[in-house]
Amino acid sequence: MSDFYSLKIKSVEELTLESVAVSFVIPAELKSKFNFYSGQYVTLETKINGNNTRRSYSICSAPNEDITVGIKKLQGGIFSTHAVENFKKGEAINVSTPEGRFYYKENYGKEIITGIAAGSGITPILSIAKSVVRANKENKFVLIYGNKSKSDKMFSTELLKLKSEFPDRFIIIDVYSRASEEGCFFGRIDNSIINYCFKKYGKADKYFICGPEEMIKKSSDKLLSSGISKKNIFFELFVSKNTKSSELTEDIESTIDIVYEGVNHTIKNPKSKTILDSALDSNIDVPYSCQGGVCAACIAKIIKGKVTMDNNQILTDQEIDDGLILVCQSKSTDSYLKINFDDV
Ligand code: FES
Repeated sequence: MSDFYSLKIKSVEELTLESVAVSFVIPAELKSKFNFYSGQYVTLETKINGNNTRRSYSICSAPNEDITVGIKKLQGGIFSTHAVENFKKGEAINVSTPEGRFYYKENYGKEIITGIAAGSGITPILSIAKSVVRANKENKFVLIYGNKSKSDKMFSTELLKLKSEFPDRFIIIDVYSRASEEGCFFGRIDNSIINYCFKKYGKADKYFICGPEEMIKKSSDKLLSSGISKKNIFFELFVSKNTKSSELTEDIESTIDIVYEGVNHTIKNPKSKTILDSALDSNIDVPYSCQGGVCAACIAKIIKGKVTMDNNQILTDQEIDDGLILVCQSKSTDSYLKINFDDV
C-alpha cells in the first residue's frame, strides 16, 4: 500500500478550458519516496464538502522532472471539478507515493515505441514519450493522439516542445473526431490509422495504450491480429469511481466480518454501498487508494460468502477463483460475508 504525504502545490497550469496540469513540491527528504517510472500514477486526497476524497491521476512528467499530473474535468466528477476550479499554488494536498503496473522501463538498446492515447489518456503516455526519446539517441516514439478538437487537446504546448527538441524521433499523428484539421486524421483512432502507422513508421517494439475501454480494445485487437505479441502491448484503462458495470438486483443488507491487521471488525453493508465505503463509514482504516478498481491497494480474500464487483482492471480470473476481490468495487450478494486483508 502507498503512503500519503502532505505536499504543496508548486503550480497549476491551465491546459484547456477543462483541464489543468498540477505540479508538486517534493521536499528533499521525500525525494526517494517519490521516485517513479514513466506511466505510473499518484493518488491525491483532499477534503471536498467536508469529506476526504481521493482520486488517482497519472504522472505526465518524466522521472527527472517535478511530479506533475494532468487533471481533466469529468462530467459529475467531484474531485476533478474541484481540482480544475479550486486548486491553487501553495495549497497542501495529500499525495500518495507513485504506483501502478503500467510503466516504461528503459531498455539500454535502441527501441521504437508507439503510444496510442485518447483525451486525458495522454498523461502517462506523455511521460513515457519523454523517457523513450531521452533514453537513447536512436530511440523513436510515435504518438497516435485522439481528441474531439484542437481546443480539447491536453498538453499541446508540451508536445510541440518535445517535437521541436526531437523532430526526427518524436512523431505525432493527430486524430480529431469533431473537426477537420490540415495534416490530421478526421474520425476516431481505428484500424486504418494503425495501418497507416505500420506503413509509414514500421512496427514498434512495444505499444502503450491509454484511454477509454472501447479504444483500448479495438487498438489491441488490431495490434494482435497484425502479429504484435501480447507481451509487447501494455494498456491503462481510465475508470472513475462513478462508473458502474453491475448493480445488485435485490435489496440486501449484509453482515460483514472484516479481518485487518489481526483484528475482526463486524459491520453492516447496505446494498447501495461498496464494502470499502461501509468500512470507512465505520471508521475501519482498511487500505485503499484509487477507489476506481485500478490500483490493487484494496485487495482482500473472501473467507465466506459472495460479492459482485463493478470495475476490475487488476485481478486475473485465477485470482478471482482464488477468492480475491477489490474491496472498493465489491458489494456483498449474501446476507453474511467474511473477508481477510491479511491473507493476500
Ligand atoms: S482502491 Fe484502488 S483498486 Fe480498490
